[in-house]
Parts: sequence; structure tokens; C-alpha cells
Amino acid sequence: MELLEGEKEVIISQVSEILGKHKHNCENLVPMLQEVQNQLGYVPELAMEMIADSLEVPAVAVYSIVTFYNQLRLNPPGDHQIRVCMGTACHMIGGQIILNSFERRLQIEEGETTEDRKFSLERVACVGCCAIAPVVVIDDLVDGKVTPTRVDGILLSFENSNNNEGKKEQEQKPVERGEGQE
Ligand code: FES
Repeated sequence: MELLEGEKEVIISQVSEILGKHKHNCENLVPMLQEVQNQLGYVPELAMEMIADSLEVPAVAVYSIVTFYNQLRLNPPGDHQIRVCMGTACHMIGGQIILNSFERRLQIEEGETTEDRKFSLERVACVGCCAIAPVVVIDDLVDGKVTPTRVDGILLSFENSNNNEGKKEQEQKPVERGEGQE
């Protein structure tokens, strides 16, 4: 995933700070990765390379640790995090089809984030609302009895809420005066 403007500098500074706090041995690999995740919300490729260099191990070794631990993310969290329940009840009643619908509509796969970083998509275990399966949780909102035909509408409502927030921000911004105005 492409880094945003200024993100590279932030990663370098945060990871350097983390590296400075730990002895550079393999025992500290997981704690270092956890700190990167806490600071940045995910473990970027650049961070893995920096850590691998400092430990003098191949980057692929660090990558395999990141993919092994569920709590470590390879991709940045989106502005909106979509979690499709894949517990037994949801799975039995079409959870996989719902997940596929989100993947198609967002053009990403489960575990990924859209290029504009608006949405990230993941599968989760039972979220405790089996009576309204299949269930999708977007941010903190639980949506039940989701059908593939509702996927577009659900995403649209979040896209619209973003636009409205953007409009509100614009309205609240003080008008900047041009040069020569008093
Ligand atoms: S299995 Fe999906 S909410 Fe329980």
C-alpha cells in the first residue's frame, strides 16, 4: 500500500524511537512489532525492513511473524472498519456471500484497506448477535440480517456521512481573506 504524504517520515521516526528502547535481539522482535502496531495502527513494510536490519535477519522472517499474530495488521485501519461476522450462525446463513459482496464492491480482499483508506475489511468471530445473522459491524454500529443487495446502500450511507462531515467542516472554517483585503 502506498504511503501517504509525510507518512514515511513518521514511520522512520517512530520506529527509530522504538528501536532505541530495545536491545537488538530476536527476543524483542514481538514486543517491538507490538509497539509499532500501537503507535501506527499497523506494521508497515518499511517498519518491518528497519526492524529486520537492526536484528540482522531477513525481512521475510519479520513478515512471517507479523502474519502469524492475528493482532498485528499488515494494512492501515480504514476510516471505517468493516467487520463481517463469520461465526457459525452467520456463516450458515450467508456470511461468506456478504463478505464477498463487500470485497467486490470495495475491490479489496478481506484483511485489506482501500487505497483511499476509507474502508478496511476483516472477518471476525461471533459478535454475540446471532439472532440477527448475518451480522456486519461497521465501526461501532451493528447491522443485522444483511443481504448482498444492501451492501451498496450500507457503504453509501458511510460515504455520505463522510461528505456531510466534510461539508460541515467547510462551513465552519473561517473564510480566509485574500491579499489586499482588510
Ligand atoms: S455467529 Fe455472527 S453474531 Fe453470532
